This record gives sequence, structure tokens and C-alpha cells, in this order.
Amino acid sequence: MNSTERGGSGVSIGIAHGPAADRGGTVEAAAKWLLLLAGCAVAVGLPAYFTVHPYRVNTLVPNLLGIVGGIMMLCGALFYALRKRIRALKQFGQMKYWLNVHILLCLYGPLLVLYHSGLAVKALNSGVALYSMLLVLFSGVAGRYIYRHFQLSLSGERTGLKEIREEITGVIEEVTARAPEGGPLVREIAELFAPTPGQHAGGPWSALLLMIRLDWRARRLRSRIARRLIAERDRRAIEEGLLRLVGLEKNIAALEATTRLFSLWHTLHVPLIWILALTVIIHMTAILLL
Ligand code: HEM
Repeated sequence: MNSTERGGSGVSIGIAHGPAADRGGTVEAAAKWLLLLAGCAVAVGLPAYFTVHPYRVNTLVPNLLGIVGGIMMLCGALFYALRKRIRALKQFGQMKYWLNVHILLCLYGPLLVLYHSGLAVKALNSGVALYSMLLVLFSGVAGRYIYRHFQLSLSGERTGLKEIREEITGVIEEVTARAPEGGPLVREIAELFAPTPGQHAGGPWSALLLMIRLDWRARRLRSRIARRLIAERDRRAIEEGLLRLVGLEKNIAALEATTRLFSLWHTLHVPLIWILALTVIIHMTAILLL
């Protein structure tokens, strides 16, 4: 069984363990490594190719890189935006996979476009297109950082405060049932993430600082948990539960800041995408006409 049913409230808390979960995790990790290696191969292989065949504007390979990179970005952006909005597309996979594919295509696409440009700006229209792309790329990475703080269901949909609280109750019940000695650690986690007065006051910068501070706190707690549980019999399951608890308490503590920042990010990110689309169209028109 992948997730553990808890007695009290009867809600599945999703602490995944067992051979099936291990296998799933291994396949996912292997796929990530493979894709990372493929990206590194492209990043190293292309400069090597251009040292043997010096880069020349408007020749086959640079042009192909631009076309393939552009198509990758277009597909990555379009399919994800459509999947988010069209219910009928739900049957084609969970949100988390679509987001991963979006990120993959929108990271590797710009990489190809960078090589397509020869890492130099030769005309105003191409310069504007290139910098708009980099802006959207960095904005995407920032958005991903904020997004990481949302509580996601198993399918990758965003969930709310009620679901987080329910899951917290479930995890605490399970951890303390397995190891009553885990009680002090559970309390320690709750205390460390308890909201402080005025925590949510202030603008976007203080929200961002709060998220970074909570991340830092979670990181310290994780290593403390690993040290304190060394002698436990049921160590793996308890550790998994406690780590989940750290993540959930952090998500609750950061929820207001995350929601505010993400909506601000979205307000900036979407117009940037339209600017990018417009600059790419101008760039392509200029190339076809000149
Ligand atoms: C040039 C590259 C990129 C383009 C054109 C692009 C485009 C888009 C589009 C169209 C959306 C959907 C907006 C909406 O539906 O409201 C989106 C959302 C998002 N993108 Fe990108 N993106 C790019 C790069 C990236 C990168 C590199 C990352 C992460 C490393 C990223 C992470 C995200 C995240 C987290 C969301 C929000 C997900 C959500 O609200 O459900 N993007 N992006």
C-alpha cells in the first residue's frame, strides 16, 4: 500500500513507503538524472561542435537550434496553460507531470535558443527577443521557488489550509502511535513554525524573507531529526512522518506570504510571456523579410 490510512479521522496521510513506492521513486529519480545528463550533453556538446564548425549566422545548425528551441518553448507554455484551464485535458495526466514537462521544455528550449544566438546580439529585434526570453526564464525559476511552498495533493493540484491541517493531524497521530518518544520532536516542530506577531505584515520583500527564513529553519530541523532518530527501531517511517510534518508546518506558516507573492509573480509573469511572444514574432518577421 502506498499511503497509510489513519484510524482517527480516516484520511489518507500519504506517507509513502513499501517496495512499490520505492520503485516509483527510483524510476522518477532515474528519469530526472537521465534528463539532466541529456541537458549537460547538449550544453557541452554544442560548444564542442561550434569549435570544429565555427558558428555562422543564418546557417543550417544555428537556424535549426532556433526553430527547435522555439517550438519547445511554445509547446511547453501552451500545453501547460491549456491543461490548467481545460477540464477535459485532466484525463491526459496529473498536473505535477505537466508542470515538470513545462519546466523541462522551457529550460532546454531557451538553452537551444541561446546557442542559436551564438551568445551575441547582432540586431535590435533579436536582442529584445533574447533578453525577453531570459527575463521569462528567470521569472519562471523564481515562480517555481514560490510554488514549491504550496501544499500539493498527490496529483499535484494546489490544496488549502483545511487539507494541510487535516494532514498534519494525521501525521502526528501516526508518528506518535509508532514512536511515543517522537512527541517532543513533534512539539518542537510546531513551536518553531508557530506564527510570530506581525509575521505577515509588510510588502513582498518581507514575504520573501519570511519564506527564506522558514526554509532555513526547516533545513536545520531536518538535520536535527536525522541526528535524534539514529537509534529508533522504526526509524525510516518515523523520519518520513516528521519530515512531512516539517514541510506541512512550514507551508502553513508561509501560506499567506506564499499566496500573496505568487499572485504578484503571476501578475508580472503573464505579461512578460506576451511580450516574449510578440518579440519572437517581430524577430521572425524581420528575418523572413530581410
Ligand atoms: C521561456 C520560458 C518560459 C515560458 C514561455 C513560460 C510560460 C509559462 C506559462 C504560459 C505559464 C502558465 C501561466 C498561466 O497559466 O497562468 C507558466 C507558469 C509557470 N511556469 Fe513557466 N515559462 C517559462 C519558463 C519557466 C521555467 C524555467 C520555470 C521553472 C524553473 C517555470 C515555472 C513555472 C511555474 C511554477 C508556473 C506556475 C504554475 C501554475 O500557476 O500552475 N517556467 N509559465
